[in-house]
Amino acid sequence: MIKILAIESSCDETAAAVVQDGTQVLSNIIFSQADLHSKYGGVVPEVASRLHIECIDTVVQEALQEANTDLEAIDAVAVTFAPGLIGSLLVGLSYAKALAFGAGKPLIGVHHIEGHICANYLNGMKPPFVCLVASGGHSHIVRVNDYRAYEILGKTRDDAAGEAFDKVARVLGLGYPGGPNIDKAAKKGVADIAFTKPNFHDGSLDFSFSGIKTAVINYVHNLEQKGLPLQVENIAASFQKTVVDILTENTFKAAKQSHIQRIALAGGVASNSDLRMRFKEKAAAEGMEFYCPEPIFCTDNAAMIGAAAYHYYKCSAFAGMDLNAKAYLPIDYNQEVL
Ligand code: KG4
Ligand code: ZN
Repeated sequence: MIKILAIESSCDETAAAVVQDGTQVLSNIIFSQADLHSKYGGVVPEVASRLHIECIDTVVQEALQEANTDLEAIDAVAVTFAPGLIGSLLVGLSYAKALAFGAGKPLIGVHHIEGHICANYLNGMKPPFVCLVASGGHSHIVRVNDYRAYEILGKTRDDAAGEAFDKVARVLGLGYPGGPNIDKAAKKGVADIAFTKPNFHDGSLDFSFSGIKTAVINYVHNLEQKGLPLQVENIAASFQKTVVDILTENTFKAAKQSHIQRIALAGGVASNSDLRMRFKEKAAAEGMEFYCPEPIFCTDNAAMIGAAAYHYYKCSAFAGMDLNAKAYLPIDYNQEVL
C-alpha cells in the first residue's frame, strides 16, 4: 500500500491530504481563505501567500493526524508546482521540499490542472476519457489518453468559465466567490434572457466567455440607467444556462470526434449543479459513461494532487530539489525537461 502526503497551495486554499493507492482518501484538510479575500472582491496574491505561510504547517499536521499516520509511514510527498499564483505556489513547494528532504522521502511535482482531472480517479475513472476542466483560471477540454498523457482539444480564448461566473456575480451584487452564489440564485430564477453564444466559424472546440460576460454587464447597466429593477435570479439563470450550453456542446462534440465513450468533469465550475445535471442527462441519452468528482474534490483540494501523484510514484517519476514553481505551464508540457 502506497501512502502519499499531498499539498496544494496554488491559489487561496491551503490544503493537505493523505491518499492511499491513488484512490482512497484517508484525510482531506482544506483551509479556505475565501472569506478573507471576499471584501476585496477577489484573491489578493500577497495576502494569499502570507496566509499560506501562517497555516500550512497546521494543515499538514492535521492531515497526517486525521489519516492516523505520521511522516515516517508516508511513501512520498506530492505538491502542486504549477500553474497558479507564484507566491502561493512557492509556499507549498518550499514546505514540501523541506519536508521530503528532512524525512528522506521522494518528492513528486504535480500540475494543478492534472490534479483536477485526476480527482476522477477517486471514484473509479480510468483512461482514456475526455474531460472538461473548468475553474477560476482555466477552461480546457482535455483528452486523457493514459495516466500522465494529455492532449488539449479546446481551450478558452479569453476568460475562464469560473472567472466569468465571478465577474457576473460581482455585477449582480452576489459577492465572491461568484460561482456558488450564481448557482444558488439561478435555482430560484427563470432563464428567460437570450445571451448570444460565441460562434467560431472554424470548427474549433475553443471557448470564449468574455462576450457573454460583457453582454450581462451591459444588460445590467442598461436596466440601472433606466431605473428599472434587476431580476437578479433570472439574469443568473440565463447567464448560467448560456455557459452550461456552451460547455456541454463543445465537450460532447470533442468526445464524439475522438470516438471516446467516457466523459468527465473537473475543476471548481464542475461543482455547478446545472452543469453536472446536463452532463449526466446528455451522457445517459447518448449511451456514454459519465464521471464527476464529489463537489469537495472539484474545488481546490489536495486529495486530487495525491491521486495524480500516485501514477508518478508507480513509475518513479520523482522531482529533484531544484523543482521550481511556475505561474504558467500547459498541461501537455514535456515532463522530461522540467
Ligand atoms: O478549481 P477552483 O477551486 O480554483 C481554481 O483552480 O481556479 O475553481 C474556482 C472557481 C471559481 O471561479 C468559482 O466561482 C467556481 O470555480 N465555482 C463555481 C461553483 N463553485 C465554484 N462555478 C459555478 N458553479 C459553482 N457551483
Ligand atoms: Zn483549481
